[in-house]
Formats: sequence, structure tokens, C-alpha cells
Amino acid sequence: MAQNIIAANWKMNNDEYSSKKLTYEFLKLLNRKNNPKTLKVLCVPHPFLLSIDNMCTGTESVFVGAQNCSSFKQGSFTGEVSALMLKSLGIKYVIIGHSERRDFFSETNEELLNKVLRSVERNISPIFCCGEPLIFRNKNNHLEYVINQLKETVLKLNKESFQKVIIAYEPVWAIGSGKTASNKEIEEMHVAIRKTIKQKFGSSVSKNTSILYGGSVNAINAKEIFEIHDVDGGLIGGASLQAQEFIDIVNSIS
Ligand code: 13P
Repeated sequence: MAQNIIAANWKMNNDEYSSKKLTYEFLKLLNRKNNPKTLKVLCVPHPFLLSIDNMCTGTESVFVGAQNCSSFKQGSFTGEVSALMLKSLGIKYVIIGHSERRDFFSETNEELLNKVLRSVERNISPIFCCGEPLIFRNKNNHLEYVINQLKETVLKLNKESFQKVIIAYEPVWAIGSGKTASNKEIEEMHVAIRKTIKQKFGSSVSKNTSILYGGSVNAINAKEIFEIHDVDGGLIGGASLQAQEFIDIVNSIS
């Protein structure tokens, strides 16, 4: 069975003080009711990895993740953060392939494959994002587009490495727009993704791969989304910046 995961993507928001405050409030609420079967991953900006990770130590099933890592192993790449650096801080998760990185930083599938390779070789699980821009959905090419994103990246891994990967389906048009995909649209995509994983790596790997949905998930729509077949949790942007709302989302998965 795939693990249920709720991951927060804080993106480039907040300073250190407000990040700690948000974490403090989140942990306080979580400690009242914490389902250890649901993994909670807070993907925070690089400068706060250590301090937020320290705060989370001791709370069951809560981990800190990064939002990016370099496609290079090490060397003269000013400003970059390597998977080895993340590993040395004890980080176990990293978001790779978010559409904001693809759009604003021109990250290609080729570069993303290298980022995935760098992270799995350090035993860090990539939360690998895929998702179609609206134009491809309108042309009814959304399935082909997303499956191709996976074929050019994570599906090139060997079976052992792939088992570290978490997939997050985030239709680009649903991110930060307040417009979630419909239940039917989400299910169609998640089923197609799992089927493709099965074709490549077999049924046991496909059953054990967590496939998250992201894009305008909030405390009101979360429960319905998490009940959709083949949805194993969510990658939450805006709504993860409010402790109570994020906890409500975390508690929406059973
Ligand atoms: P929103 O939840 O703000 O739509 O963002 C989704 C997202 O991009 C998570 O990675």
C-alpha cells in the first residue's frame, strides 16, 4: 500500500521568525491528534531547513524537506545547494520539477532527471512534480503530456531508485488559482500515472508509489480529493501557510 503523505510547499514566503511561529503552531495543533500513518513533510526554504528540522525532531511522522537541489554533484556553481549538503543536514525529501521551477527557471526534463539522480543517490526522496499547462488540457493532450514528463525523468531510474520517488500531480492551471481539477480529472490522471508505473516497474512498485495531488487544495475540498481513487495525499501551497488550515487538511486524510 502506498503511504499517505501530506506535504507543505511553503515556496518563497515568510522570514525565519514567522516560519518558526508557523511551525510552532502547527506542531502544537498536531500534538493534540497525530495520525502516525500519515507522513507530514514541511518543504521549507533552504535557510530554514535546520531550524525547522530541529523544531520537528521528536514529533512522530513529521519531516522537513527542501524545495530544490542542484543537478550537479559539487563544484563551482555559485548559489546552488547540492543533494549532499541536504543529506548532511539529515534532510530526506526534496521537491523536484515544480512547474514554477520549470516556468521561471527554465528547468528541462533533462535537468530534472539529473536532480532526481543526485537526490536518490544520496537517499533523499524526490517529491517529483508533473502537470499540464491549460493549453494541453484544452487540446485533450493532458495525459500524454504528463506521462511524457514522467517518461523523460523518473521512469528512467532503475527500479530500486524509483522506489524512493513520490509523485505529485499538479495541473499548472490549478496552482494558486483557487480552481481545483474536478474529481474525474484528478482520478483519470492518477490512474494513468499508476498504470504507467505498473507497465514499467510492475504491480508491487506501482501499488507502493505515493501519488499526491496539488493545486488549490484547502481545508474545505481536501477530504473529497483525498477520497478519490489512487490519490495518496496532497502537496499543499498557499493553505500550508496557515497552521490551522494545514492541520485541517492533514486531518482530512484517513
Ligand atoms: P496552491 O496549493 O497554492 O495552489 O499551490 C500548490 C503547489 O504549487 C504546491 O506545490
